[in-house]
Amino acid sequence: MSSFRTLDDLADVNGMVALVRVDLNLPMRDGAVTDDTRIRACAPTILELAEKGAKVLLLAHFGRPNGERSSTMSLSMVVGAVERVLGKEVMFVPEVAGEVAAQAVGILRPGDIAILENTRFWKGEEKNDPDFVKAIAAIGDLYVNDAFSAAHRAHATTEGLAHSMPACAGRSMQAELQALDQALGNPEKPVAALVGGAKVSSKLEVLKHLVGQVDHLIIGGGMANTFLAAKGVDVGKSLCEHDLTGTATKILEAAESTGCTVHLPYDVVVAKEFAGNPPSLRTCNVHEVASDEMILDVGPGAVEALGDVLKICRTLVWNGPMGAFEMQPFDAATVTLAKTAAALTAEGSLVSVAGGGDTVAALNHAGVAQDFSYISTAGGAFLEWMEGKELPGVAALSR
Ligand code: 3PG
Repeated sequence: MSSFRTLDDLADVNGMVALVRVDLNLPMRDGAVTDDTRIRACAPTILELAEKGAKVLLLAHFGRPNGERSSTMSLSMVVGAVERVLGKEVMFVPEVAGEVAAQAVGILRPGDIAILENTRFWKGEEKNDPDFVKAIAAIGDLYVNDAFSAAHRAHATTEGLAHSMPACAGRSMQAELQALDQALGNPEKPVAALVGGAKVSSKLEVLKHLVGQVDHLIIGGGMANTFLAAKGVDVGKSLCEHDLTGTATKILEAAESTGCTVHLPYDVVVAKEFAGNPPSLRTCNVHEVASDEMILDVGPGAVEALGDVLKICRTLVWNGPMGAFEMQPFDAATVTLAKTAAALTAEGSLVSVAGGGDTVAALNHAGVAQDFSYISTAGGAFLEWMEGKELPGVAALSR
């Protein structure tokens, strides 16, 4: 039995009003949703509840309107995209509580679905105000949280509601928590974590936590430069947080004491300018970077060695790109290692879990996102989980 409640723990939901917290903080351009991954993630929960005869009210935030109504952040903009994914008509309700919301509930029949307005239009949401929680709870019978990607926020609709009515995790939250447990909670060893991205400063807590959890810590992206600098390497013009080299040294020392092997690149791809296939492009040993060059990707020698590390591991947690993957050829290390991880996953020798920020974009770019064991749709929540923090939205669902 899982440590948190799921839809299987709910009694008959027929005729009940289910308040379902989903993440509809979707990428949009010119008023249109450009990526519906998050809608597809919560669709099974919504459809299951509707099929069981619940009236489904979707609660979600969009952007950061700071407690004010804003026409550019209304959830009315995503109704069409949600209807397309669900294959069902969806009503839009411009409130989250009060008479208008109650009237809408009265109109809905069992199995119908509605989206309530952006919860962050009300100050009570981010303050987790008990009166706001009470007002929303008044229109529903039960609460389902299917928004892992917002579970790091202790807001009214991500945390408060779970204490006010029968509450459980939706299917996407359930799958996410099970996959994350398999990756770091209760993993098959050896475990590797691959952490990339531009800045050490944004992932300090992640790195500090991981050295106590994993057998191999692979550091790539711009943040590897800070670690190389900490080891006395001259990284030239590379992106590097020189003020954090002391912290990087402490992380390396902590890794040594816990028996975690830290892998930093020993060869790198460098150029004098950040442009596609620049004339100054070359591969060199990390000790040969010139003062006017920038490190833009992990070199092929190190990539091959890292592939061998993945081959001896049973579990991989991946967060962040290995190089400046948005510009060719600096996507090579990310693409090659992603393909290696995907192939090992297909062979059944590796459980691969990825998430956070640019990671999904990087794995999609490599064309292997669907071949990983699990890809999280979460950004900040995934990172906080990698930091070992308890997420308030998850804690509120525990048995
Ligand atoms: C996200 O997009 O990562 C989540 O919806 C959380 O959004 P927030 O960072 O604005 O709280």
